[in-house]
Amino acid sequence: MIQKLNIGVMGCASIAERSMIPAIQAVPGVKLVAVASRSIKKAEQFAEKFNCKPIEGYEALLEQSDIDAVYMPLPTGLHHEWIIRSLEAHKHVLAEKSIASNYSSAVQMVELAKNKQLMLMENYMFQYHSQHRFVLDLLKKQAIGDVRIFRADFAFPPLPENNFRYDDQVGGGALMDCAGYTVRAVHFIMGDTFRVKAAHLFMDAKSGTNIYGAAFLDNGNGVSAQVGFGMDHFYKCSYEIWGSKGIITAHRAYTPRPDYSPLVTLEKQDGKHEFQRHPDNHFIGSVNEFVRAISEKDFSKHYHDILLQSKTLEDIRTLSA
Ligand SMILES: NC(=O)c1ccc[n+]([C@@H]2O[C@H](COP(=O)([O-])OP(=O)(O)OC[C@H]3O[C@@H](n4cnc5c(N)ncnc54)[C@H](OP(=O)(O)O)[C@@H]3O)[C@@H](O)[C@H]2O)c1
Repeated sequence: MIQKLNIGVMGCASIAERSMIPAIQAVPGVKLVAVASRSIKKAEQFAEKFNCKPIEGYEALLEQSDIDAVYMPLPTGLHHEWIIRSLEAHKHVLAEKSIASNYSSAVQMVELAKNKQLMLMENYMFQYHSQHRFVLDLLKKQAIGDVRIFRADFAFPPLPENNFRYDDQVGGGALMDCAGYTVRAVHFIMGDTFRVKAAHLFMDAKSGTNIYGAAFLDNGNGVSAQVGFGMDHFYKCSYEIWGSKGIITAHRAYTPRPDYSPLVTLEKQDGKHEFQRHPDNHFIGSVNEFVRAISEKDFSKHYHDILLQSKTLEDIRTLSA
């Protein structure tokens, strides 16, 4: 059992400021020690706000001997280099999604983490929101009979043109940014056996990256899944499980704020039942899981999830070519 996990943040990202640093600071047994940025000015602003040490440059963060783990909210295209360097510096890593630009990168990162007996986790925090336990419980109770099809969607309207999500050089694109949620939802809710059978990615000529797409998966045992994702859409953030006797829908599946009560509906022959679930802070849930897995040296599920996730995203890219 570790006494205290000292964390350093690599990159003064918006997700770190809004959600993840407050979560890190809310979890007992974890201490935010330092924040690193390419710009010392930015690091100082974060450090003042969160009462920790400012550091200029990511390499300098890894030289800090009092840091056990790195939280990495860098764009996906920078993950490979900095995850490998963090693991080499003997730090556990919690990396933002998508953790890997391709499957071969995921394999290399996981192999190194395994060899060094370090935690490597991809931050799909929605999995730690209690609304999904409610859904899984309904499924267990056969509330909708036998599942026939699972549908997951995550998309949002266009972002400012200079957002890194339009830059393929740093791992942009809707496949890395949006499809990941839907693919993780398929495996998390329905199980690991789903594989991609068909896929489509729309390439935007202006930005040179993919800005939306869809895919069809099946589990080889009569259940299929459809995923839709994009960065040029009306906002959608849901999944639906359609069974022989009803439909369950999680309406705000991936991004409920900590003060938001997400709606889960159950439609049956006798009508539509609405369950306004209680608010939950899945950012804290994710940090708790990171700490638990390190304390118990329980790394293998996370290694497995990273490999399955990156292989599935790569299959979507390959099949859509
Ligand atoms: N899990 C979630 O719910 C969730 C939600 C939103 C975002 N994310 C993920 O978190 C990561 C960051 O997203 P964000 O929206 O917070 O982005 P952001 O505000 O643009 O932050 C990205 C940070 O990466 C660093 N960086 C280094 N090189 C960069 C480059 N060439 N271009 C852009 N940034 C560079 C910058 O930090 P310095 O300038 O300080 O070095 C920047 O602040 C992404 O991987 C995204 O997918 C996850």
